[in-house]
Amino acid sequence: MYKKIVVLTGAGISAESGLKTFRAEDGLWEQHNIEDVATPEGYQRNPDLVRTFYNARWEQLKSGQVAPNAAHLALAELEASEGVELTLITQNIDNLHEKGGSRRVIHMHGELAKARCPRSQQVFPMDQPFSADNRCTCCIPAEPLRPHVVWFGEMPLQLNRIYQSLSECDLFISIGTSGTVYPAAGFVEMASHAHAQTVEINLEPSEVHSQFQYHMQGRAGEMVPRLVAAIIGGQPLE
Ligand code: NAD
Ligand code: APR
Repeated sequence: MYKKIVVLTGAGISAESGLKTFRAEDGLWEQHNIEDVATPEGYQRNPDLVRTFYNARWEQLKSGQVAPNAAHLALAELEASEGVELTLITQNIDNLHEKGGSRRVIHMHGELAKARCPRSQQVFPMDQPFSADNRCTCCIPAEPLRPHVVWFGEMPLQLNRIYQSLSECDLFISIGTSGTVYPAAGFVEMASHAHAQTVEINLEPSEVHSQFQYHMQGRAGEMVPRLVAAIIGGQPLE
């Protein structure tokens, strides 16, 4: 039975819930220029464009039409199962893990439903779309709030906690991520150094595919419940 398990999720786990991934043919990065909508420089140049990009995704989440799928639910079950210490790390800025019942989630690339004061770094819940009028309540004069999202060139969140958990885990599972964005793409190597077993669940081989010991190629909604049942049932990985 595995005790310390680290799970990394990416856009692929939310695909079956109806959210677009980044690098698919019709993905978000095919339709938007990363430098315009996901960099601090893009935000400085044209904050309205960046707000419009995130608001479209915010509306989708708030509409209630996007629900967690079987993969999110299975990870919540894994967290709740006795004897398992799960660290769930997501690159996703959606809230589908929480909606699926997971209680402790590390959002290393931030959260769509939150905004941040760029001066004090205080984080505020966002229950309305982003606009130029959103201001912090922590500074005088009040600062315009920015999306609480990690952009390219910025430091991902909670890395110390993440590295600690990777150095201690006995099983590392990566789900629905293309393995193109570091540092997340390097987690499998760190887990391997800690002598953890490593499993990749993805529709297609990721960029770091060869670094995993086990592969489950297919839809997360089908593969994750299968893997979680095996772990909880104490079955060996094949
Ligand atoms: P990078 O060096 O540009 O940035 C990676 C760093 O920024 C990491 O620390 C990462 O965690 C962080 N980061 C900041 N915002 C992020 C966000 N919104 N999503 C993910 N990570 C974010 O990245 P890289 O490793 O050189 O490139 C990763 C992938 O992104 C590649 O597929 C690359 O082609 C693509 N990319 C494309 C462009 C572009 O088309 N202009 C620019 C940057 C990255
Ligand atoms: N089940 C499993 N895997 C899937 C599914 C599915 N139903 N649908 C798609 N996938 C896989 C794809 O094959 C792809 O390899 O999920 C992966 C998604 O990859 P990306 O679109 O690159 O998303 P991700 O890896 O999360 O991107 C990382 O880049 O710019 C950013 O901030 C963004 O956090 C994101 C980061």
